[in-house]
Amino acid sequence: MTYEATKEKLEKLGQDQLLKYYDELNEEEKANLLAEIEKIDFDLIKIHPEPEEGEDVVEPLGALTVEEIEKDRDEYERIGLEAIRAGKVALVLLAGGQGTRLGADGPKGAYNVGITRDLYIFECLINNLMDVTRKAGCSIPLAIMTSDKNDAATRAFFEEHGFFGYDRDYVDFFIQEMMPSTDFDGKVYLEGKSHISLSPNGNGGWFKSLLAAGIAQKYKAAGVEWINVFAVDNVCQRMADPVFVGATIKSGKAIGAKVIAKAAPDEHVGVMCLRNGHPSIVEYYELTKEMETLKDETGRLAYNWGVILNYLLNLEGLEKIGGKSMPHHIVEKKIPHLDEAGNLVKPETPNGYKFETLILDMISMMDGCLPFEVVREKEFAPIKNLHGIDSVDSARELLKANGVEL
Ligand code: UTP
Repeated sequence: MTYEATKEKLEKLGQDQLLKYYDELNEEEKANLLAEIEKIDFDLIKIHPEPEEGEDVVEPLGALTVEEIEKDRDEYERIGLEAIRAGKVALVLLAGGQGTRLGADGPKGAYNVGITRDLYIFECLINNLMDVTRKAGCSIPLAIMTSDKNDAATRAFFEEHGFFGYDRDYVDFFIQEMMPSTDFDGKVYLEGKSHISLSPNGNGGWFKSLLAAGIAQKYKAAGVEWINVFAVDNVCQRMADPVFVGATIKSGKAIGAKVIAKAAPDEHVGVMCLRNGHPSIVEYYELTKEMETLKDETGRLAYNWGVILNYLLNLEGLEKIGGKSMPHHIVEKKIPHLDEAGNLVKPETPNGYKFETLILDMISMMDGCLPFEVVREKEFAPIKNLHGIDSVDSARELLKANGVEL
């Protein structure tokens, strides 16, 4: 698109701040900026999206509880191990986020949670994974999703640490897509005079990016039937858990979701529900006081089962939804940008919006979901912040309680 056409389009959209420094740029930079602007889908970055029509009917959804799982543990584990040994299970580690709340430089997985020795988040995850591969007697393919912002650093980190003992032939890396970020008025930020501000597009685009990288096809050709997707920041994450794999396969559902019982009715966590009859997630802020405290027939909270970002998804089911577009969520974040004087600033508090698709939206798109309870104290130690709730401090406590030497 020419400069004139771009200018006209941006003026109509109220986005002509993007050309503020155009005259200062050399020819290459000018071409780059125009190309970046042309790629923006302004329909996807509306900060006041049209409300969806009709009201959703939200109802509780139960889970396979720890007690129930215990009764059938041996059978589930046998089914799970069989599937793993037959090469039917692969893993996707979501590590494309920017970890802005933690605020550390570099990939979040490279954060050192050790106290008297080095122990990196990636290392904790690989250690947990190797508990399973030792038991199964085989390695499991692992694809690591990064973003343009941390891909090189993530690859280098794994190389530098010898993949923490994992067989590197089983590891692939792939890069997720980016989306523009805006200020609170919806104006796209500039990150440089010839660069718009781009951020990873959320964890919901992982399958599209896995396809784009040709990895999903490679897995399918190798006989993979299930993909276990998990977050980088839970250092107690148990992936390729044979019991979870077996229970999900036996359930006949297209997806299994590891869940934990809520710590309190008003805990800020998305919980499993039925939305218009389909398994889905209801966010804590969507729950009324009545829903929060509603009990089921066993006396438990009806909206009790919080998701921990560990899902097992059927590859065939994923292929069916592969091309479907996912809703974009607007998230307040700290966004580095050029100030009025053209200097790069890194804000201390949120200053705008990023637009993210979320993996949890896949649940309602798939054919049935098995919420599978795990013990919070054993499997849920997310690191979002440095201190306080879901922090390095709380994760260290849980690691120690689980016998990990720090
Ligand atoms: P979070 O929602 O905690 O986001 O990610 P974040 O970017 O890591 O951290 P903050 O909010 O900026 O502090 C949950 C999981 O989803 C992955 C993260 O790496 C983490 O494993 N994720 C998130 C992606 O892979 N890509 C994204 O674009 C966003």
